[in-house]
Amino acid sequence: MSSIPLLQSKELSADYCQQLQQQFGLNSITEPAGWYLSMQQGALVLQSTELAKQGAILVDFASGASSYRRKHGGGKSEAIAKAVGLNKRHNLTVLDATAGLGRDAFVLASLGATVTLVERNPAVAALLADGLRRAAADPKLSTVAARMQLRHCPALQALTSSAPVDVVFLDPMFPAREKSAQVKKEMRAFHDVVGSDTDADSLLAPAQQLAQKRVVVKRPGYAGWLADKAPTMAVSGKNNRFDVYVNAAI
Ligand SMILES: C[S@@+](CC[C@H](N)C(=O)[O-])C[C@H]1O[C@@H](n2cnc3c(N)ncnc32)[C@H](O)[C@@H]1O
Repeated sequence: MSSIPLLQSKELSADYCQQLQQQFGLNSITEPAGWYLSMQQGALVLQSTELAKQGAILVDFASGASSYRRKHGGGKSEAIAKAVGLNKRHNLTVLDATAGLGRDAFVLASLGATVTLVERNPAVAALLADGLRRAAADPKLSTVAARMQLRHCPALQALTSSAPVDVVFLDPMFPAREKSAQVKKEMRAFHDVVGSDTDADSLLAPAQQLAQKRVVVKRPGYAGWLADKAPTMAVSGKNNRFDVYVNAAI
């Protein structure tokens, strides 16, 4: 996937621009064309000149949806909490090896887990880092943000070099159903910017090696098992299924 550049502008300080470039290997540009990252109202955003009507994509843990899940929806009865085991023990360590925009990681951290967010795509990792920076400075979110740590590297590298964790969480990209009419805006962007995760099957075995308690794989309801391997159990959510591969009781 070609890398997404960073737009130089008055809103982006020279120091922050340099930091993002160094940390995520981003190139900077002065004229956008296609997908690009830029600073808008204090937040790093992803947008495209070819999709002018589509709003900017950003990691916003203070957004209505994230706050709602933090306060209500991400409760211990939610499918993801049951699948990960947070309904039984709240202080689990979780490695989210395919962090994306960090929404699942945020729910898990809101419930008490300490989460390492692994993301290999430089643009997505930069969005995550910026979202975590803003959350750390927000008194309502700083406690949760302190339980979230970003690692910009391939999942395989994290899975084979990390200290053991209780749970590995995997949510690789899955090809959208051909007939699904309205792919959500983030999904569209992700399919353009990130592409498909053709190596997803290879993550299951190292995840099972690292996880002391269990591996949880998030799949669309219609999708088959990761690596064609049957899970120990599955927890059905509203739009997704969580396949759980148990190593030991929580
Ligand atoms: C479907 S998204 C995850 C969405 C996430 N669960 C959320 O709540 O926002 C998948 C993400 O995993 C990342 N990814 C996929 N395979 C990866 C790998 N092998 N190493 C690191 N990141 C990976 C992709 O770049 C993409 O950002």
